[in-house]
Parts: sequence; structure tokens; C-alpha cells
Amino acid sequence: MILSIESSCDDSSIAITEIATKKLIYHKKISQELEHSVYGGVVPELASRLHAEALPRILAECEPWFEQLKAVAVTNEPGLGVTLIEGVTMAKALSISLNIPILPINHLKGHIYSLFIEKEALLPITVLLVSGGHTQLIEVKSYDHMETVATTMDDSYGESFDKVAKMMSLGYPGGPLIEKLASNGDASRVTFTVPLWQSPLIAFSYSGLKNQVRLAIEANEASSYPDIAAAFQHTATEHLIQKLKKYFKLHPPHRFAIVGGASANLYLRERVSELLRPHKAEMLLSELKYCSDNAAMIGRAALEAYRLGAQCDYHVIPINPRCKL
Ligand code: KG4
Ligand code: ZN
Repeated sequence: MILSIESSCDDSSIAITEIATKKLIYHKKISQELEHSVYGGVVPELASRLHAEALPRILAECEPWFEQLKAVAVTNEPGLGVTLIEGVTMAKALSISLNIPILPINHLKGHIYSLFIEKEALLPITVLLVSGGHTQLIEVKSYDHMETVATTMDDSYGESFDKVAKMMSLGYPGGPLIEKLASNGDASRVTFTVPLWQSPLIAFSYSGLKNQVRLAIEANEASSYPDIAAAFQHTATEHLIQKLKKYFKLHPPHRFAIVGGASANLYLRERVSELLRPHKAEMLLSELKYCSDNAAMIGRAALEAYRLGAQCDYHVIPINPRCKL
């Protein structure tokens, strides 16, 4: 079995995965959303202290499986340095005390393998990764051959939801809050310009849209927030759709997935599924409980790393430059 640890942002999570069967034997996650919501975003120092408290509590429940562990996997990049180090330090301690290797896992690969928890991987696949930290279009050929073909020039899709929610004083994380508010609004009552709509670039940008929303919020009463939220969600998603459409002209999709925390957004799922229909492409999604950060996806990715013998020594550090996508 492999024990996996995730602490790249505001979720403390540990999982145990059986190597031969890919079965998820144990999985627990303690989220810090409540603690950060008063600040409208993640406070790294607070997140780090909360991991230091939560991770050992979860680990104590894993003790019955310690003797069966063949490796310990840990998210080592990308993420917040001060929170990654909590998981990495725990992995080092386990590695030394149980005499097992460390598998450093890239968090984005974890999100991609969230599609294949307790399953065989279906590759190659084109993946849209939308999270709080990233907006990327990735061609995934295999675990160790992934190519990022488009990325954001500034903010990410999920982050823009967080920032709009903060401007409306809704709390954190903003994604589900804005999605809910938007369901009571009328997107046609407010018009925002779709980012980069005239640009031939296949890239993403959300900082301009965030400013447009800020101006709309300043110019309107709180009673218009549902309409603003609906128009924002529509425009943010339309931007992804326009760029995907452009990309598909040159690279028609056969198999496509959306992963990451923001892949839980139902409007996004609907729009992408519509876009794929004429291509007759298969669409894959992670189970809702595995969209946001969790250690089960890190454990699933770790099965591939283990198979490839991609282990590190005790010098593994957070944001390890040797472990690129
Ligand atoms: O993958 P994740 O848990 O953490 C990172 O790796 O960043 O993603 C969290 C992000 C947050 O920005 C959150 O607001 C966004 O995913 N999110 C959503 C939705 N649910 C979560 N964004 C839009 N719509 C949602 N329903
Ligand atoms: Zn994530």
C-alpha cells in the first residue's frame, strides 16, 4: 500500500491506496474553509498551523496499515511553500521511521489522476485543469509525458470566482457561492467583455474581467449581485469555451476531461459538454468529492510514480524543480 499526503493549500488530507488493486483503503480530509472564510482567501501562516494540527490527527488513524506500506507519497509542488512543508516533513518522518521511499507528487498530476481513482487510466487525454491556482490546457500522453498547451497570463478561473465573491463579501471559497448566487440571477442584464476575444492567442486571462466586475459592483446595489454573478460566471466560462473552440480547430478532441476544484461548476460542465458533442468526443469528469484538493488523487498518481520507480531521497523539498509536469 501507499500512504499519500496532501497539504498544498487549505486541505489536510491523507489516503491509503492498495498498489495491486488501486483500491482506496482509507481517505480523510479536513478542510480549513471556515477558518479562512473570514479573510476572503487563504492565509498561508494560518493554513500551515492548521495542517500541523490536523495532519497528525489523521495519521494516527492510519497506524493499523503502517506495516503494509511500501512508500509514502506527498504533494511537493506546486502550492504554498509554508503548507507544502507540513506534508513533506511528515512524509520524511514516515520514510525514515518505516524505512520506505518517498514519492514526490506534482499536485496538478494529482488532479489529472483524480479521474482514475480506483480505475485504469484512459490515455491519451486532453485535460482542462481549472483550480484556484491554475487554468491550463494539458495534453496528457502518459504519467511522465504531459504538455501544457495553454495557460493563464494572470489569475486563474477558480481564483476569479474567489475574488468576485470577496468583492461581494460572500466568503470563501467563492466558486460554489458565486455559482449559487448566479442561479438566482439573469446573465443578460449585465454585459461583460469576454477576455482576449479578439486575440488569436490560445491563452487565458481573468484580471481584466475581475476589474469589469469590480466596476459593476461599485455602480450597482447589492440587489443586482445575482445578475452580476450570473453574467460573470457566463463570461468567465465563455472565455474558456472560445479558446477551446479555437484549439479544437487544430486539434480535434477524442477524449477530454475537466479537473480541479472549479470543475465542480455545473455551468462549465454543461458548456464543455455542448462543445464536445459535434466532435463525438468522450468527456471524463472526476467524482464531485475528488474535484477539490484531496490525498486520494495524490495516491492514485503515486501508483504511476511507484510503477516508474520515480522515488526521491530524503532531500525532497517543497517545490522540487526536478518534478515538473
Ligand atoms: O483544486 P482546488 O481545490 O485547489 C487548488 O488547487 O487551487 O480548487 C479550489 C478552487 C477555488 O478557487 C474555488 O473557488 C474553486 O476551485 N471552485 C469553484 C467551484 N467549486 C470550487 N469555482 C467555480 N465554481 C464552482 N462550483
Ligand atoms: Zn488543487
